[in-house]
Amino acid sequence: MGLVTTKEMFEKAYSQGYAIGAFNVNNMEIVQGITEAAKECNSPVILQVSGSARKYAKHSYLTHMVQAAIEETGIPIALHLDHGADFEICKSCIDGGFTSVMIDGSKYDFEQNVALTKQVVEYAHAHGVVVEAELGKLAGIEDDVNVSSEDSNFTSPDEALEFVERTGCDSLAIAIGTSHGAYKFKGEPKLRFDILERIQEKLPNYPLVLHGASTVIQEYVEKCNHFGGQIPGAQGVPDEILHKASTMGICKINVDTDLRLAMTASIREYFTLHPEEIDPRKYLGVAREAIKSIVKHKIVDVFGSSNKI
Ligand code: G3H
Ligand code: 13P
Ligand code: ZN
Repeated sequence: MGLVTTKEMFEKAYSQGYAIGAFNVNNMEIVQGITEAAKECNSPVILQVSGSARKYAKHSYLTHMVQAAIEETGIPIALHLDHGADFEICKSCIDGGFTSVMIDGSKYDFEQNVALTKQVVEYAHAHGVVVEAELGKLAGIEDDVNVSSEDSNFTSPDEALEFVERTGCDSLAIAIGTSHGAYKFKGEPKLRFDILERIQEKLPNYPLVLHGASTVIQEYVEKCNHFGGQIPGAQGVPDEILHKASTMGICKINVDTDLRLAMTASIREYFTLHPEEIDPRKYLGVAREAIKSIVKHKIVDVFGSSNKI
């Protein structure tokens, strides 16, 4: 099997009320950890590449590593551009073998976002590639925005319907209270499920996407800090909230921060316990295992995509 698009993945996920994990990849150990986990759980998976990951690892290394993961595991994998900033990067990924791209026009006003997304959709669809767009602004405590009182940042259900109808995008990332990184909430973690419900009513049977969805697993934060890190009071989206979202039309859940934390914590621990070690395979090996175990937990206990191949 070659790379697949997310079309069938999302149709099945929507109708059965689960989500597919979309994990950010930057190097070989990350690709291996994620895909070995998905293989052992018999789960489809989305591997996503940001613009900066593409700069770091280079397009062809990433596509060839993902191809190798398909050969090794035989599971359905979609290769997705995360937060594509403009038409050019989307075009380059479409031409270069990705099966899904995100055009992130959320920084523009509604009409500009529609125009840009439409341009990408036309090109992508002509090449058999699907498109994720974003409407609404993910804000976080790092921006010092009180998200709960800033309704204007959340996705408007009426605009979501108009946006999807006018652009023809295949999935839509919405803002309902999450944010990127390790510090997501000032107080109690809370998502605007009322807004999600209204979006679902406007867009029935339509796949929605949740960005900024790392749980920020405390075990790894504590391990980082125990072994010399300085990560203050991190706070993520709890598993129960993500699980609930996965039953309400959220078909794709994005995770990057949790993988970073797991890698960093396990490498910090390894260096402390084995100060004499200089073999990168040793510390990158434990990092790969940590990623594998987190991804398995998410697939099986949170997103519900195990045994869905
Ligand atoms: O949402 C952004 C992802 O976490 C990717 O981050 O641009 O540092 O690769 P990055
Ligand atoms: P986290 O920072 O919560 O892992 O979100 C990642 C993401 O949304 C990638 O697009
Ligand atoms: Zn994101």
